[in-house]
Amino acid sequence: MQTLLYNIPGFEALSESLAEKLGIKKGTYQLKRFTNNEAQIIINDNVKGSKCLVLGTNAPPDRQMIELMFLCHTLKNDGAKKISAILPYLAYTRQDRKEAQKGLAMDWFSKAFKISGISEVITVDIHSRLAKKMFKIPLVSLSPAEIFADEIKKNSFVDATIIAPDEGAINRCKELKKCLGDKSQISYFEKKRNGQIISAAFKGKVGKRAVIVDDILDTGGTLIVACQELKKLGVEEIIIMVTHGLFTNDSWKELWNLGVKKIYTTDTLPEIRIKVPPEVSILQIAPIIEKYVRQKY
Ligand code: R5P
Repeated sequence: MQTLLYNIPGFEALSESLAEKLGIKKGTYQLKRFTNNEAQIIINDNVKGSKCLVLGTNAPPDRQMIELMFLCHTLKNDGAKKISAILPYLAYTRQDRKEAQKGLAMDWFSKAFKISGISEVITVDIHSRLAKKMFKIPLVSLSPAEIFADEIKKNSFVDATIIAPDEGAINRCKELKKCLGDKSQISYFEKKRNGQIISAAFKGKVGKRAVIVDDILDTGGTLIVACQELKKLGVEEIIIMVTHGLFTNDSWKELWNLGVKKIYTTDTLPEIRIKVPPEVSILQIAPIIEKYVRQKY
């Protein structure tokens, strides 16, 4: 059965690298716009009976999610046998709790992916178990722990305390500690949000150096509060490791005033390369996706 790899705009580099390393043929399509801007997908390949891998994201701007889902839907209608969506950053996972009067976008996406013909989603470091549970189709969340562990070893941060900035990050810290062979108790913050105000109470032990690990750096609010508290506890050097760097607005820059020496993120969102200054180290996510796809396809 032939396998074809498609990507939405922005994901060309990751797509080229996966196609080359895995020996998968790239598929192509056009997005045609009607005069009133309505979109239509035109596929350039015969996909009947094929497996299709579709690389992209459902993150804003909204046209990305429309293009992704219209593309998958067209591939399915045209006879594709299986469609696997590779979405390194799966957006909207923070809407994972049912609350009165509030939208539950994750639930909507899981249904929308299904009706778009997607058979499975391959992502990196999904926000929560709750978000994963909500999925109506198989979902694989790949851990970036090995990539971060390599960096910790390379840069001699092994003596630093690994810290979760909230309880949701405890499991990803455990995975990282496992890669490092660190059997010590987890240190974490109990985070509370009151509207925009975040407060955090530290639980555990910490020395002079700390590595804070989280899935998302959005405005930086969570990490700023954690760093302020660590500073009060006498921590002198902080390293930040976040899988998905959204870096929305400039408030995260306050981190440099709070003992943060280095921020690591990954390129799950390709635009990160033009968004952040060179002081932020961007690690490549391609090897872990490649490893998974090689084993499965
Ligand atoms: C929340 O539970 C997430 O894991 C992140 O800690 C959070 O979304 C980061 O957002 P911000 O940088 O705006 O605090």
